[in-house]
Amino acid sequence: MKIISIVNQKGGCGKTITAVNCAAALHKKGYKVLLVDCDPQAHATFSLRKESRVYITDILEAIAGNQELPSEGLLTQVADNFYLVPSRIGLASLEHKLSVRDDKLQILSSFLSKVSANFDYCLLDCPPNLGVLTLNALEASRYSLVPLMACDFSLRGIEILKDILIMLKEYKGSHPIPFYLLTQVDKRYNFSKEFSEKVKKQLGNLLLKSTIRINISLREAASAGKTIFEYKADSRGAEDFLALATELEKITSQSKWTSLFLRGDKFSEVYLVGDFNNWKRDERYRLNKVGEDIWSINVPLETGKYRYKFVAGDSWFNDPHNALAEDDAFGGKNSLLVIE
Ligand SMILES: Nc1ncnc2c1ncn2[C@@H]1O[C@H](COP(=O)(O)OP(=O)(O)OP(=O)(O)O)[C@@H](O)[C@H]1O
Ligand SMILES: [Mg+2]
Repeated sequence: MKIISIVNQKGGCGKTITAVNCAAALHKKGYKVLLVDCDPQAHATFSLRKESRVYITDILEAIAGNQELPSEGLLTQVADNFYLVPSRIGLASLEHKLSVRDDKLQILSSFLSKVSANFDYCLLDCPPNLGVLTLNALEASRYSLVPLMACDFSLRGIEILKDILIMLKEYKGSHPIPFYLLTQVDKRYNFSKEFSEKVKKQLGNLLLKSTIRINISLREAASAGKTIFEYKADSRGAEDFLALATELEKITSQSKWTSLFLRGDKFSEVYLVGDFNNWKRDERYRLNKVGEDIWSINVPLETGKYRYKFVAGDSWFNDPHNALAEDDAFGGKNSLLVIE
């Protein structure tokens, strides 16, 4: 099961619309899909309007309290091969139970591992904060989809997310591979075009090619308790989400991805060099400046062992966020990646 968290601590940027309709688009393409509403605001749950018996908080509380999971109604059926774990308001008791556990960030992972054999994709709709539920979702997921509103001039939100990803990498050795998605794109307005251009330049290949245009049918579908395919299958919204699902299908079935970060505000450009590109600076391996002082790159690599370094100007250095290293031929060290 490929797990994708939809995350951005900024509110209203399109996380829920993306989670619900991307899940529906993957289902339409023939995949078995599980959508998990990790947000106590429960917008994804409302926008599918299904009768439910068991909620995400019940499941996480049961696991955190070492109790049996409910044997019936664990997942709410949306359609054939399309299921939901719904949410509802009320986190206090869950937070209390989690706070005493050392594995408080792995509770959602532990639940998903029990159901993973039944699904191809799992999408996690996160709340607009980086609290315990979002951290559980980041821990559980292999990929993160970060919606960015195309009418927003600030990319500061991403910097905080980057800090969390770096922290996850340092504490557990890996973190989800982030991909960014432009949403609420309105081509009639210059500021939307300008923002899209700016983000494209800044994020390079971290930004998905698909974009989600402003489409009133998406909003209407959510208030009618339907996915866009049930509400208006010939809308621009439906077209955009199908294209997004196709792009995600490709990304998640391609070679494995590794995401690397580097901090530094003095560089004008940074390259990743290693035995996968003959240690040469190559445009495909140029890092993107994703924040004031954060550089990042997502690299598709097949299974294997790779040595690498970063190069900025005349300086070569190791990855400060990767403890794995190996002696190089010059008396120094190379950072090491082992892709299994
Ligand atoms: N492409 C779009 N076209 C039209 N309306 C949209 C589009 N994307 C999102 N919206 C509307 O914008 C609002 C915010 O979207 P959404 O609820 O998906 O954001 P969110 O990031 O999940 O918000 P929160 O952070 O509160 O969970 C909703 O009313 C939604 O219907
Ligand atoms: Mg939401």
